[in-house]
Amino acid sequence: MKTPEKFVIKGGRVLRGTVDISGAKNAVVAILPAVILADEPCIIENVPDISDVEISIAILRQLGAVVRKISPNSYEIDGRGINLWTVPYQWARKMRASYYFMGALLGRFGHCRVSLPGGCPLGDRPIDQHLKAFKRLGADCKVDCGMVDITTPNGLRGAQIFFDLVTVGATMNTILAAVKADGLTVIENAAKEPHIVDLASFLNSMGADIMGAGTDTIKIRGVPYLHGTCYPVIPDQIEAGTYMVAAAATKGDVLVRNVIPKHLESIIDIMEKIGVKIEQYDDAVRVFVDGPLVKANVKTRPHPGFPTDMQPQISALLCLAEGTSIIKEGVSDARFQYVEELRRMGADIQVDGKVAVIEGTGSLTGAPVKACDLRAGAALMIAGLAANGITTIEDIFHIERGYADMQGKLRALGAEICKAPVSHEEDAKHEQDAKKNAV
Ligand code: EPU
Repeated sequence: MKTPEKFVIKGGRVLRGTVDISGAKNAVVAILPAVILADEPCIIENVPDISDVEISIAILRQLGAVVRKISPNSYEIDGRGINLWTVPYQWARKMRASYYFMGALLGRFGHCRVSLPGGCPLGDRPIDQHLKAFKRLGADCKVDCGMVDITTPNGLRGAQIFFDLVTVGATMNTILAAVKADGLTVIENAAKEPHIVDLASFLNSMGADIMGAGTDTIKIRGVPYLHGTCYPVIPDQIEAGTYMVAAAATKGDVLVRNVIPKHLESIIDIMEKIGVKIEQYDDAVRVFVDGPLVKANVKTRPHPGFPTDMQPQISALLCLAEGTSIIKEGVSDARFQYVEELRRMGADIQVDGKVAVIEGTGSLTGAPVKACDLRAGAALMIAGLAANGITTIEDIFHIERGYADMQGKLRALGAEICKAPVSHEEDAKHEQDAKKNAV
């Protein structure tokens, strides 16, 4: 087994230079399973080098697809040989987005057996809306022994689907299941995130007939055949936002390239309120700070609102600002677990349910901390870059699920960061020292 590693960051370096943003995690984790629906091989470009992609590709291979890496960020995938429609727990447990294999396998074979996605550090995340949509399309869904077993006694038929809440996952999964169904499917109260538009564009590039992605009504007319395509994944909105916040937190000056500025509007709006200067270009934004950072109130909402996936990072920035900021979490049930770790670095944050009150302290101090999920990890990276002293971040596998080469990209911007093995002997020694000191 690989020895677990931690990030070691010496804070206080001002980030300067240029960073290139990778393809979007939340788009690629749906586009890779979507290849199962293709009747010819596909080439997917701008694929980020992250562990969620490794897992998706491993699942595709185990199902019988032939996957060939043709350049550092492009894969050719031939799914014609797929002859399994079961995704067991061992394959699915490491990645919540494994639920996209349900929609894709169902759309191709009319049945599937896919493990419920494993436990999630972001609280209770049911998939009732996914199953509701599959049922509307004519499927029978049963859950037994942790597996979702879906059959379609009379095939998949287009239907009218209204989601009880705005859900990214269920919107994408319904598109996957409906794209080859018989007739017209209309999704109402659909999510509008950029990755939904990207999945629809990918499928349309293969001959699908999907209209309205990016609005709250999506219409999908089923087609019998999807031909091959060569498709580049959109840039990652959240990775871009994370580097923008990191630049601001260190009072740096960074050109964040390969972005779609339109996707960053809500992030830019809040950062400007905090006092960060942002210049927008066609496919880049320059982020710099030439004055004080000040408080701001933030409420996360579905797109085009401020993304929940940027909430921990912006909170880290607001710890460094002057004044009291209020953060309201409007999407996720449990997204303040990182607060405890930021407090170890000197942050003054009080949480009450889905609201956090941050008293800006102007500075943070390095400390040993643990990433409890992907964006929590990103927030701790930002805090560590800005803090005085050394920060060590454990459980970095969370970060590597969604950020391609974060260490390399930050180093190129001037950060002092390296990886080191997590040494349990070291931990035990610290514990012993602490006990001695306590006596
Ligand atoms: N929900 C239900 N029932 C459902 C589906 C969702 O109650 O059937 C609830 C969830 O519990 C949650 C809310 O609706 O409270 C929104 O869930 P959504 O389905 O929109 O989220 P998701 O598909 O599970 C995706 C991203 C998340 C991101 C959310 C919100 C992927 C693979 N994941 O999750 O990304 O936070 O949308 O935008 O696309 C991340 O990248 O760090 C991450 C967690």
